[in-house]
Amino acid sequence: MQTHEIRKRFTDHFVKAGHTQVPSASLVLNDPNQLFVIAGMVPFVPYFLGQQTPPYERATSIQKCVRTLDIEEVGITTRHNTFFQMAGNFSFGDYFKRDAIRFAWSLLTNPVEDGGFGMDPQRLWSTVYLDDDEARDLWLEVGQVPERIQRRGMKDNYWSMGIPGPAGPCSEIFYDRGPEYGVEGGPEADEDRYIEIWNLVFMQNERGQGGGKENFEILGELPKKNIDTGMGIERVAFLLQGVDNVYDTDLLRPVIDRAQDLTGQRYNAGDPEHDRLFRVIADHTRTAVMLIEDGVNPGNDGRGYVLRRLLRRVVRSARLLGATGETMGVFVDTVIATMSPSYPSLADDAQRIRTVATGEEAAFLKTLEQGITLFGNAVDSTKSAGKTVLSGDDAFTLHDTYGFPIDLTLEMASEAGLQVDEDGFRALMAEQRQRAKDDANSRKSALADLSVFREFLDRGPTEFTGFDELVSDARVLGLVKDGVRVPVVHQGDDVEIVLDRSPLYAEAGGQLADIGTITTAAGAQIVVTDVQRVAKTLWRHQGTVAVGEVSEGDAVTVAVDAGHRHGSTQGHSGTHLVHAALRQVLGPNAVQAGSLNRPGYLRFDFRWSGGLSEDQRTDIERVTNEAVQADYDVHTQVTDLETAKKSGAMALFGENYGDQVRVVEIGGPFSMELCGGTHVASSGLVGPVTLLGESSVGSGVRRVEAYVGLDSQKYLAKERALVSALTSSLKVPAEDVPGRVESLVSRLKDAEKELEKLRAQAALSALSELASSPDRVGAVRLVAAQAPSGVAAGELRSLVTQLKGRLGAEAAVIALFAVDGEKVPFVVAANDAAQDLGVKAGDVVKAAAPAVGGRGGGKADMAQGAGSDASGMGAALAAVRAEVARVAGA
Ligand code: SER
Repeated sequence: MQTHEIRKRFTDHFVKAGHTQVPSASLVLNDPNQLFVIAGMVPFVPYFLGQQTPPYERATSIQKCVRTLDIEEVGITTRHNTFFQMAGNFSFGDYFKRDAIRFAWSLLTNPVEDGGFGMDPQRLWSTVYLDDDEARDLWLEVGQVPERIQRRGMKDNYWSMGIPGPAGPCSEIFYDRGPEYGVEGGPEADEDRYIEIWNLVFMQNERGQGGGKENFEILGELPKKNIDTGMGIERVAFLLQGVDNVYDTDLLRPVIDRAQDLTGQRYNAGDPEHDRLFRVIADHTRTAVMLIEDGVNPGNDGRGYVLRRLLRRVVRSARLLGATGETMGVFVDTVIATMSPSYPSLADDAQRIRTVATGEEAAFLKTLEQGITLFGNAVDSTKSAGKTVLSGDDAFTLHDTYGFPIDLTLEMASEAGLQVDEDGFRALMAEQRQRAKDDANSRKSALADLSVFREFLDRGPTEFTGFDELVSDARVLGLVKDGVRVPVVHQGDDVEIVLDRSPLYAEAGGQLADIGTITTAAGAQIVVTDVQRVAKTLWRHQGTVAVGEVSEGDAVTVAVDAGHRHGSTQGHSGTHLVHAALRQVLGPNAVQAGSLNRPGYLRFDFRWSGGLSEDQRTDIERVTNEAVQADYDVHTQVTDLETAKKSGAMALFGENYGDQVRVVEIGGPFSMELCGGTHVASSGLVGPVTLLGESSVGSGVRRVEAYVGLDSQKYLAKERALVSALTSSLKVPAEDVPGRVESLVSRLKDAEKELEKLRAQAALSALSELASSPDRVGAVRLVAAQAPSGVAAGELRSLVTQLKGRLGAEAAVIALFAVDGEKVPFVVAANDAAQDLGVKAGDVVKAAAPAVGGRGGGKADMAQGAGSDASGMGAALAAVRAEVARVAGA
């Protein structure tokens, strides 16, 4: 039975039973909590919740649904589709369980001649929620047999959307494919042999927040008892069409067939991985077509990202199967042809859908081509080095820069007779994820998808004019909004702009980006807040349109914020000075490990084990400031890497500077580094440099931080204000402050010690009174008491020991409790004679601890514990006495 026939019979069956036919809603509902419609009931939520009055009491629909949570399962199991059609019947406070069960059973089992699906009742199983005897009885009523009814728990038989909203126990219908597909035992035993085809939800509760299928609160009853059912059209189709899975039905198989033509591989030829790829192509193309139809465009987040991921998985699957050129157009056309009988608007919109899908394919393919060249080079150099394993680094670059999924790299490497260091790759991926997480500025995240910029890369690099001028004329080559190329941007839009040339510095080499403006002749203006590089050569300006509108092709004036730039150059030149000073003071082993600078501030990381001494820090700061004072000229020249290295320039990262490198020289041999950053004209302009301190950042790497220029002065001014506050409160001249503070601290310590001694004496004398008239518990003399207030946990032990000494050789037990802040510490001691009678201090502690909400333990002679509930003190003391009495008592 063809899919369109299944759809038709479903609708007819329920219309005949008084249901209003409701067309499918768009896959994209305006609900921030859900990316896509995931079930037939979603458009009806306000009716279930009683927020709106439904215009009908019974409805039936065949709803388009997308679920991408199980995307990795696609093509592996028999039944996972990312797009599927859910046929449903709904009752809004009208009929309930009996009719829901009756309607479903009759449609499934009625003979084909009578409009049903003609399923053999012996193949159908039913499940009910644990204690839903009513549903079980109703199943028996329609002719189901008890052996094929199973009870299942919350996870399987209680349905909600996964978020707060309507919910309820459910009853599902499964179809038994027969013993050749798995073990006996019903759905409980095997959900691949027994395929779930229909879910009847008895929608009667409202669920609250919480996770998973079981961990949420049920808030209460809905205003009415409702019915929501969902029958999977694709699943019923595959069962009725006598095929083995959802991908082989009349709606998807044609795409697989076209993929066979285009890739030259055979489907169902014994290679499960190939079969999976064919199915991914069919499933994902269909989902993509349906999403584009409903207005989704490929993008970098949310719905757009889901679509992009689906389309790229199609391209990559086709490629893994051997396709070399473009295939998307054919796949899309095939989907449109198979789906448009049920969705006629697809045919009307075919041109647009095709353009969006093939555009994404073209962009991704271009990246793939570039990556393949890089891959070829990596293979050559691996082989010429006599190695058999492609490095994790290479695999990572392929992934990160060229969007190569790792399985593509694996496949290609194995064709080239190489393995891939997958562990290395995964470690780099993990590092990258961590970096991205740490990067509060997530807009700069390395995970961003930059494919929209690829076509600009082909036109050549952005010309950087900012070494020579702060204002340049330029042309707008492209505008990108929300990850998508757009022809024009308007006031208020956040945009990314590509220009042919720009004086704005793009973040690199530790120097943060310039800020500035882009202005058109008509007076429109974009305020640029960040500039990042794509593949090192293309500038991606990020900003907001402040006034007017800007179009692709506009002639513009680009201006750097001069004050900000001056601060940046101070920071960057300051970094070179600190680096040079560090090596002068610590020697050549202090190798740079990273740096960052922005206006007024710099930090410099270097390899060094152990901290720096006070003298070393002072020396580094002094040498740096002497270089400032010397006001060295700053020279830059472009030369080849060899010459630069020979002249002594430091090229510490061995990065891809290319053949031509830029050398920045401050004071001749004092500082000479390869660097693409912007710098002051002479070192005096850096202004004072103040080291803030030095710390460790991971094993073997230290970090110095400093302020430069006016920020340095501001920092020093703050410190001076602090000293003057101290001189006035201590009433001594500045140079005497340290001596005065030291003597104050030592006097304070002495006073505290004295106080402690006095308190202990006072406590002891108070307790001595107790010891002179101890209680008697049988043969044991017992002192059980609360220590005077002020006695701390640390003092209890010595007090107990001293008291024990005073009680002599006769059997004695001392138990002291104190209240120390939030805590209730206590110590128990039993002397030798008491122990001879069987008393154990440890047991006494254990007996008393619960009363003060605590725990404890120890030996027979001495034990201690701590609780947190002082109100139980009386009970604890009583417990001490009871325990002593129990063992040695009268
Ligand atoms: N809402 C239920 C489901 O999606 C039944 O339609 O399974």
